[in-house]
Amino acid sequence: MTNPTSTDTLYAPSAAFVANAHVTAEQYKAMYAESVSNPEGFWAEHGKRIDWIKPYTKVKNTSFAPGAVDIKWFEDGTLNVSANCIDRHLATRGDQTAIIWEPDDPKDEAQHITYSELHRRTCRMANILEGMGVRKGDRVVIYLPMIPEAAYAMLACARIGAVHSIVFAGFSPDALGARINGCDAKVVITADHAPRGGRKTPLKSNTDAALLHCKDSVKCLVVRRTGDQITWAEGRDYDYNELALEADDYCAPAEIAAEDPLFILYTSGSTGQPKGVVHTSGGYLVYASMTHQYTFDYHDGDIFWCTADVGWVTGHSYIVYGPLANGATTLMFEGVPTWPDAGRFWAVCEKHKVNQFYTAPTAIRALMAHGTDPVTKYDLSTIKVLGTVGEPINPEAWNWYNDVVGKGERPIVDTWWQTETGGHLLTPLPGAIPTKPGSATLPFFGVQPVILDPQTGAEITTTAAEGVLCLKDSWPGQMRTVYGDHERFEKTYFSDYKNYYFSGDGCRRDADGYYWITGRVDDVINVSGHRMGTAEVESALVAHVNVAEAAVVGYPHAIKGQGIYAYVTLMNGVEPSEELRKELVKWVRTEIGPIASPDLIQWAPGLPKTRSGKIMRRILRKIAENDYGALGDTSTLADPSVVDNLIENRMNRG
Ligand code: WT7
Repeated sequence: MTNPTSTDTLYAPSAAFVANAHVTAEQYKAMYAESVSNPEGFWAEHGKRIDWIKPYTKVKNTSFAPGAVDIKWFEDGTLNVSANCIDRHLATRGDQTAIIWEPDDPKDEAQHITYSELHRRTCRMANILEGMGVRKGDRVVIYLPMIPEAAYAMLACARIGAVHSIVFAGFSPDALGARINGCDAKVVITADHAPRGGRKTPLKSNTDAALLHCKDSVKCLVVRRTGDQITWAEGRDYDYNELALEADDYCAPAEIAAEDPLFILYTSGSTGQPKGVVHTSGGYLVYASMTHQYTFDYHDGDIFWCTADVGWVTGHSYIVYGPLANGATTLMFEGVPTWPDAGRFWAVCEKHKVNQFYTAPTAIRALMAHGTDPVTKYDLSTIKVLGTVGEPINPEAWNWYNDVVGKGERPIVDTWWQTETGGHLLTPLPGAIPTKPGSATLPFFGVQPVILDPQTGAEITTTAAEGVLCLKDSWPGQMRTVYGDHERFEKTYFSDYKNYYFSGDGCRRDADGYYWITGRVDDVINVSGHRMGTAEVESALVAHVNVAEAAVVGYPHAIKGQGIYAYVTLMNGVEPSEELRKELVKWVRTEIGPIASPDLIQWAPGLPKTRSGKIMRRILRKIAENDYGALGDTSTLADPSVVDNLIENRMNRG
């Protein structure tokens, strides 16, 4: 449907969809207005959507004030997150499927895990962890494939009040070791191998390598996924499958304070090593469950599928915590979109009668390249809502998703949020907010986005505006601190623009008040929907003996959104070669993981620097984008001639 007064084409939900939706346009307006004019009252009410052991009497106690950033929600309440995700559903839906597990290989059988089974499995895992000495407040690192045990492990930690920190199975031993040490974990839970796309990642041997750099006291719990042979360290390694046979089926859920940590998740920033984003229990669960219900218009009995990995926040909030808190059936997929063929997503949607499907633009673009046949041969009539997350979605991908997958009839929710935000901040509610291709539309309840002038920091109050995206006030799902470093938390998010949370994203607001994310304004790049700090890749590169200096930037990439472009200055006397180029790519893969592999490496005899020695990244970005005609002012460079050399030898001529 087109609205001629709008700044762009509007797609409105059908009357039938609206009739059945949790929230209509009028209700959204009223609820949103209440949520920002009376946050205390609004959240006092909506906090009740989860079960509390001791109900809260205080709702919101938050400050973004310089030097005194402090965020607390429902602070005097107590609860157990695992009991909210499992026990409270047992009476009414014990036999309902909680998790559908679809294995990597379509020839292997899917599993349907009921809420009762989830309860038993989680209790056993909790008892095993307690048997290994894990106590409330201890950290447990989870390094697992996309298997149900990953959910059991998360919920088992939540059950006993341990704090989990999941490390994506694509990360290298070094990255794993740094995270185990970073949060001083007592136990790491891993598997023998992780099957993915017909290949296997050796998780146990990666963990063995990581643990060489960790305290001797760290124990390892091993899940047998493939049954392949692995090395075993007697006394350190524990066999999950064996222990689960004997473990007790019941473990009482501990009473946890609302502001006790639930998990730590490491994420990349513009400087330094990844930081441990801390989410706590009460506010996070309220927010994850509420956004899951409203953003996807989830109804009882629906089958919900988020294709993310539990190693990312999307998997935390929308595979495990949000859906399970809502008593949903959540699908967990071990594989990849293009194996055994490009129809796999749609085969799984048909097979399990998926009602809401949530994926990333990079996956959509990769599948688009295979044409429409792999989609149209499957029955996708059960799908009611389509979702996207991770990066701005380009109109071509949006249209393909809408026309080919959604048959032009399914609302698409483009959800903007971050590891730090716990859940969606900008998103359409599918029955309430007409969408525009490429816009994350309007704020969720309680969310107050503002656009600031990046130079002056002043709030731009006209409807149409462009600048940096900040949040004016807190919401229950907001991160509380950087693990072990509250100062870094304040410095990263609250120091550039005082009294605001700074997202790191650029943004435009159109004349209809719709928000359009324009991408990161810091030195963070978005590769296939994964966040990567350019500083991290640079420090991996300079750790190589032959590398003197490195500068990394993003450049437009047809499938990944952004590719990784590295300028490398070699040590004196080292000759550039194809072999060295390959070696450096391999080096970064082992230092960080395959997701950090540079796509292009340019040998740079010199880097453009100011007289004070600061690398002018703006210039490097332009050359990487093949947009070297628009370099802007280069007069402050110490040696302008290095730029000519870089242009001449640029790697991206597309
Ligand atoms: C960054 C956060 C939150 C889950 C996945 C990524 C970008 C995320 C969108 C979107 C435009 C988006 C932003 C953000 N981003 N969703 N719908 N439209 N950009 O989490 O790794 O913490 O990355 O991803 O740049 O800051 P993350």
